[in-house]
Amino acid sequence: MNEVMTNEVKKKIVYSGVQPSGNLTIGNYLGAIKNFSAFSEDYECYYCVVDLHSVTVRQVPAELRKRTYEGLAVYMACGLDPQKNTLYVQSHVHEHAELSWLLGCNTMFGELSRMTQFKDKSRKHAENINAGLFTYPVLMAADILLYQTDIVPIGSDQKQHLELARDIAVRFNTTYSETFKVPEPYMPKSGARIMSLAEPTQKMSKSDPNANAIVYILDKKDDIIRKFRRAVTDSGSEIVMGEGKDGINNLITIYSVLSGKTCEEVEREFAGKGYGDFKTAVGELCADVLRPVQEEYARLIADKKYLEEVMKLGAERASYAARRTLSKVKRKMGFTDIPR
Ligand code: TYM
Repeated sequence: MNEVMTNEVKKKIVYSGVQPSGNLTIGNYLGAIKNFSAFSEDYECYYCVVDLHSVTVRQVPAELRKRTYEGLAVYMACGLDPQKNTLYVQSHVHEHAELSWLLGCNTMFGELSRMTQFKDKSRKHAENINAGLFTYPVLMAADILLYQTDIVPIGSDQKQHLELARDIAVRFNTTYSETFKVPEPYMPKSGARIMSLAEPTQKMSKSDPNANAIVYILDKKDDIIRKFRRAVTDSGSEIVMGEGKDGINNLITIYSVLSGKTCEEVEREFAGKGYGDFKTAVGELCADVLRPVQEEYARLIADKKYLEEVMKLGAERASYAARRTLSKVKRKMGFTDIPR
């Protein structure tokens, strides 16, 4: 074992993933990706572009391929150094699919039937309620458990999936003896659920057909400001959080997370100002925060060779860890090795 591996073993493990199933939004950024780099120094971090998850919904193959590269470039543009973090593509590490089958045989139909995301997606894609959509949380559990993960930074919409991953791990450990680390979620206090700008009672989602509801990480400054200026708010005028003020609550939250100020500080800063001024200020701040990310992204996406080197390095590192867990799982379940 080399020196790097020795250090890796001692550190706690952080794991998360983002689907390359659409352009990434500020929900993905504020709820998840922005928080990833904070773990890089003290933890062993795995951040995955979860392309296998994406095909639960029909994808245009060329688009999926393109967005997989883009996902990796966004990770790096958001500050993830590929030397300090294992950045990789899920389908490059076949152990994910293999463990998913084994865990699926330890997951109950009833548990999967209760997943709210399955129910939502079945409603949205009524013409394609495939088995993968149903077993999706098992693959997510496999992602996490393969790396003996301690902490999973996620937005609040993934909490139920994480709880299932914990239940699967505990059940497996009880049945076959201690095998998996039982992971904990990490959700930011503020920003774990960024809402749609058009329908602020709904989560901002990259699959929303209304482009005005979503601010993409790679949106141009003018578009960002225009979308915030159009954001749906109530008929009030004061910049204060409150019951039933979903639109303004969302904008204050976004401003607070982008600026690092508390919501109360934001309210004080905008005391006496109207919704119009505030919306413009949120848009400008958002565009300013995203500008360096977008500049770095433009540089990275033009360098396919470098992205492929990162992919290769990530796949090697991830496979090393994944192989160890998978072989342990197979041994415990009674599978035989190919005789040497
Ligand atoms: P995905 O690709 O939908 O979203 C990626 C991350 O972004 C968070 N997120 C949000 N946070 C706040 N506000 C929002 N509006 C918002 N929209 C999305 C998500 O919570 C997520 O953290 N199943 C996962 C991907 C996945 C995964 C994993 C995550 C697969 N395997 C293992 C963690 C660990 C998903 O579809 O995320």
